[in-house]
Order: sequence, then structure tokens, then C-alpha cells
Amino acid sequence: MKKYKRAFETLERPFAWLDLDALDANIATLSLQTKDKRVRIATKSVRSVEVLRYLEEHVPYMCGYMTYSAAETDYLAQQGLNHFLIGYPVYETESVRNLCKWIKKGKDITFMIDALAQAGWLHQIAKEQEVKVNVCIDLNLSIKTPIVYFGTRRSSITTIDDASLLIDQLQAMSSLEIVGVMGYEAQLAGVQNQPKNKAKGLMIQQLQQQTKEKVTKLRQQMVALVKQKVGDLQFVNGGGTGSLAFTANSKEVTEVTIGSGFYAPSIFDFHKSVKLESAAGFALRVTRKPTSDTIVCHGGGYIASGISEQREPTILSAGLTYYPTEGAGEVQTPLKVSTKEHYEIGDTVYFRHVKAGELCEHFKALHLVRSEKYKGAFNTYRGDGQCFL
Ligand SMILES: Cc1ncc(COP(=O)(O)O)c(C=O)c1O
Repeated sequence: MKKYKRAFETLERPFAWLDLDALDANIATLSLQTKDKRVRIATKSVRSVEVLRYLEEHVPYMCGYMTYSAAETDYLAQQGLNHFLIGYPVYETESVRNLCKWIKKGKDITFMIDALAQAGWLHQIAKEQEVKVNVCIDLNLSIKTPIVYFGTRRSSITTIDDASLLIDQLQAMSSLEIVGVMGYEAQLAGVQNQPKNKAKGLMIQQLQQQTKEKVTKLRQQMVALVKQKVGDLQFVNGGGTGSLAFTANSKEVTEVTIGSGFYAPSIFDFHKSVKLESAAGFALRVTRKPTSDTIVCHGGGYIASGISEQREPTILSAGLTYYPTEGAGEVQTPLKVSTKEHYEIGDTVYFRHVKAGELCEHFKALHLVRSEKYKGAFNTYRGDGQCFL
């Protein structure tokens, strides 16, 4: 990691970085895939107001944010951002009351719904606050075969009948207005289809190919139904970093979501369709060298949530591997050094997080580098004193 050495020489370790050249390259690569579809930025995969502002300025056809909680959306509204689709159902009274107040002041905020219980509750708060609230119906595009369940277990709207009933229920609630539909094809966007195990990769790719037709058919049918019952929609949202090529070619979709693709964490190293540059990561200090082939880094246990081939951070510096019996440790991480490399106490080891936004939960700032020069820092949510989920 010689290219970062001079830029970050004097920073205390550990620190997190954002490489602006790589970020710009990723924006360009992703834009080629999204073509003329509008782009919604998934804030969970960014978690820094300053980076969100940078993306708003630089991402072509950027139309708004997909946020992940009501409190977070409230915070972003306070920061002057606008056009929010909360990507997941929320159920927190105080934060939602605050969002109703923002709606009264003219902010564009849409809530995600897939069940009567969420809708009824939201309707009551909207009524109490005397405001009309926009909602988006979350379709479940998972595919069930006798052998596998391929997709997410989130939304309860899996059939045309489910969607039809929910629309009728929503239309009976005078404080709610259906303005959008989301059909997130997670089995294409979020599943690693080029894992280290080649046979597994081929099987996943085959399943993905089969699923595409079904996803398109189901999403088109559902969107047609909603439009027939509701009239014109403001948006039909789909996709994520791993499915852009497919989603951007889907006629029924008006906007695609991108989050992780900007930082390009290591989970996307195992995606066939995405070739991005590693733009963010963290650095640790070597503080011990108990044997000639072992170094110990101070920190490092930033384990990724969810399921992936590898949940420990990916080591970027050369010639280093985890000890399987130790892994990435809570406050110390021993690493095995190959015979070709040499590390001393005081050196720095560079890593990437497996997930994008989770990196920012461990650091107050992302230190910026461009053309090997230090360019200051952007605060993360944590640096702003915020912690949402
Ligand atoms: C509803 C929804 N849309 C889109 C995405 C895609 O986000 P990313 O580009 O970070 O993979 C996600 C990620 O989990 C999601 O939950």
C-alpha cells in the first residue's frame, strides 16, 4: 500500500480512509451500468453526510436517498438533505412524528409498507399530525423452488392477491397515499455469484439466470396491478449494486438503488458482474512481533454482519494471512507473515471491510486521499455523534 504511505504518514492508527480517485472511478463504472435510470443512494452503505453530499453532486441522475431508519432520515433532513425513501418498515413513534413535521415543511419522505399492521399504525400517526404520508409497497420477488428459497425473507407481499388486498387496505386509509413500488431482487443484487468455490459459483449463476425471467414477470404484473388500482406512480424502485446491469434494463423500473458500489467493499470481489475499485478501508498499527513470521496489529475485529464467504476484513497489505485459530481480534489481530515480506513494529497494515457502511460504525472519520495526497477528512455518522442501527 505504498500509494497511501505518504498521504497518511502522520495520522494516528487505527484510521479509516476513502480514496477519492477510486470513488470517482466507481461512480463512472456504475453510471455506465445504470444508463439513463434515476439513481437512489442507499445510505446504509455510505453512513457519512459529507460523502452523501459528494455523491449527490457527482452521481448522474441522482434522485434521492434510500434511508434505513426513521431517526436517520430525521437526522439527514436536519442536515438539509431531501427526497427520502425509507427502505424498510419503521415503527418508532417519536421519530415518525418528527418525519411528519418535516413532511409538513415540504420534505419528500416515503415510508415502506408490506403489511396492514405497519400501515394502520402509520395512518394513526399521520392523522394525529394532520398530514398526508406517502407510502411505497415492498414486493417480495423471492423465488421458491422445492430445493431452495432464493431471495430475501422480508416482505409479505409475494402474490398478486397479496398486493391487491394491501392496496385496498391502504386506499381505505385517508392519511396514506401510495406513490411507489419497490421490487428488490436481492437474489441478483446481493448474492455472491463468484465465490472461491467454483462449483457453488456456477450453481448460483445458473439459479440467477433462471430467476431473471420470473423476477421480471412478477414485478411487471405487480406494477401493472398497482398502476391499475392507484393510477400513476412516482417511482418503481429496484436493484442494488450487484444487479445493476439487469435492473437498469428492466422496463418497469424507473430508478435503481446503489449503495455498496461506491466504497466497493470486499463482498463485491465475489460478484461476477461488478468490477469496481476498492475505495475505502482501514489501517492498523503493528505493535508486536512475537516471532519472525508473526506480527500483531492493534485492533481489527470488524466482523461483517449477515452471511458471506468471509466475515473478517480482507487484508490489503502484502503477504499476510489470519491465523484460523485467532481471526480478526477484538483489540489485537495476530497475522502470519509470508517469507517474502517483512514487517516491523510501527508499520501499518491496510484492510478492507467486507461490508460498505459497517466500516463507518467503527470510525469517526474517513480520511481522504487523492493522487497520493492527503485531502482532509469526511465525518462518518459516528463522527457526528450519531448511531442509528
Ligand atoms: C431494499 C434494498 N435495496 C437496495 C439495496 C442495495 O444496496 P447495495 O447497493 O448497498 O448493495 C439493499 C441492500 O441491502 C436493500 O436492502
